[in-house]
Amino acid sequence: MRDDFLVFGAPLIGDDEISEVVHCLQSGWLGTGPKVARFEADFAAYQGVSEKHVAAVNSCTAALHVCMIASGIGPGDEVITTPLTFAATVNAIVHAGATPVLADVDPDSMNIDPDAVAAAVTPRTRAIMPVHFAGRPCDMDALVAIAEANDLMVIEDCAHAIETEYHGRKAGTLGNFGCFSFYVTKNVITGEGGMIVARDDDHIARAKVLALHGMSKDAWRRFSDEGHKHYFVVECGFKYNMMDIQAALGIHQLRRVEDNWLVRQSIWNRYQEAFSDLPAQTPAPSAADTRHAYHLYNLLIGETAPISRDAMLDAMTARKIGVGVHYLSIPEHPYYRERFGWRPQDFPNAQRIGRQTISLPLSPALRESDVEDVVEAVRHCLA
Ligand SMILES: Cc1ncc(COP(=O)(O)O)c(C=O)c1O
Repeated sequence: MRDDFLVFGAPLIGDDEISEVVHCLQSGWLGTGPKVARFEADFAAYQGVSEKHVAAVNSCTAALHVCMIASGIGPGDEVITTPLTFAATVNAIVHAGATPVLADVDPDSMNIDPDAVAAAVTPRTRAIMPVHFAGRPCDMDALVAIAEANDLMVIEDCAHAIETEYHGRKAGTLGNFGCFSFYVTKNVITGEGGMIVARDDDHIARAKVLALHGMSKDAWRRFSDEGHKHYFVVECGFKYNMMDIQAALGIHQLRRVEDNWLVRQSIWNRYQEAFSDLPAQTPAPSAADTRHAYHLYNLLIGETAPISRDAMLDAMTARKIGVGVHYLSIPEHPYYRERFGWRPQDFPNAQRIGRQTISLPLSPALRESDVEDVVEAVRHCLA
C-alpha cells in the first residue's frame, strides 16, 4: 500500500504560476487589473471568441447567477436544469428569484435528456441550463432546437467543460451564455474563479456591470495612471470580480490546458482498459464529432458488484486513494425536497447514478505509479 494519501483533484501547479503570483504581490496590484485583462484575452482566444465577449469573475457560481439576471430572468420564471449537478447550478436559479425545474438525465451520457426537457417546458419557462457533465457535451442540437421553438435562453454550465467541443464548436459558445469554473479541482485553476462567455454585446455588458456592484466602469481603471475616473452605479450589482492574484495562476494554467488534457486522456484510457472486465459500469464512449474534456472519470457500482458504493468509498479511502461522488442527485438534499417537493425517484436515472457513482483521481498531477495504485485499489474492491 502507498505511504501518502492521494488527494482527489489535486492541481498541477508549475513554477510559472508561482513566479507570476510573486510578481503580482510585488507589483502592488492585487485586485482586478492587468493580469485579469490578460487572462480574459487568453481565454477568449482559446474559446475562439472576441475578448469583448468574456468577463472573468470569482467563481462559476457567480457567473451563473449574473447570467440569470443579465438574461432578465426573475420571479415567476422557470428554468429547466439537470438533477445530476452540483448545488451551485440550481442555487443560481433560486438566487435570481426564479423556479428551478428538473429534467432527468440520459442513463449513458449522464447529461440532461432533451425529451425530458421538452416535456418540462411550460408557458413560464424562460431558460434551459444544461451541464456538460464530467466534460461530455450535452445534445446541444436538440436543446437549442427546443430553446428556439419556445423562445428560451440557453445558459451552459461549463464548470467541467473548458476543452469540450460539440460538432466543431466549443462548449459555452452554443447557447446565449457559457459559465466556466477555475475552482481548485477543475481543468484550469485559479483557486476560486470563473468566466462568463456571452454571445451578445448587450448580455456581456450587463453581466460585467452586475459583476462589479452595478458600476458603469471597470473599477481597476479608476486607479490607473490615466488619472481619476468617476464611476456611476447604474444598478444594484454584486462583488463578483476576479483578482489579479487569481488570474496570475490562470494565465499559466491555460497555457498548459492542452498538455494536461492529453495526460488526463491517457489516464482515462488506462482506466477504461483496466476496468473493462469488472462488474461496474465504465463511462460510455464519446459521441461522434464531439470532444470530451475528461474532467471526471466515474464508475457505477451497481447490484452486480461485490461491494456497495458507499463501502467502496471507504475501502478506497482506507487504501489511501481520494475519491469523490459527483453527484448525489439534487432531490436527495433536504432543502430542495422541502422547498420544491422533489423526490429522488421522480428522476430515476439521476437517482441511480447518484447512488452508484464513484469518481476516481484524474488529475494531470498524477504520476504513473499513482495511476497504477488507483487501478490496483479498484481491482481489489471489485475483482
Ligand atoms: C457542475 C458545476 N456547476 C457549478 C459549479 C460551481 O463552480 P464554482 O466552484 O467555481 O463556483 C461547479 C463546481 O464545483 C460544478 O461542478
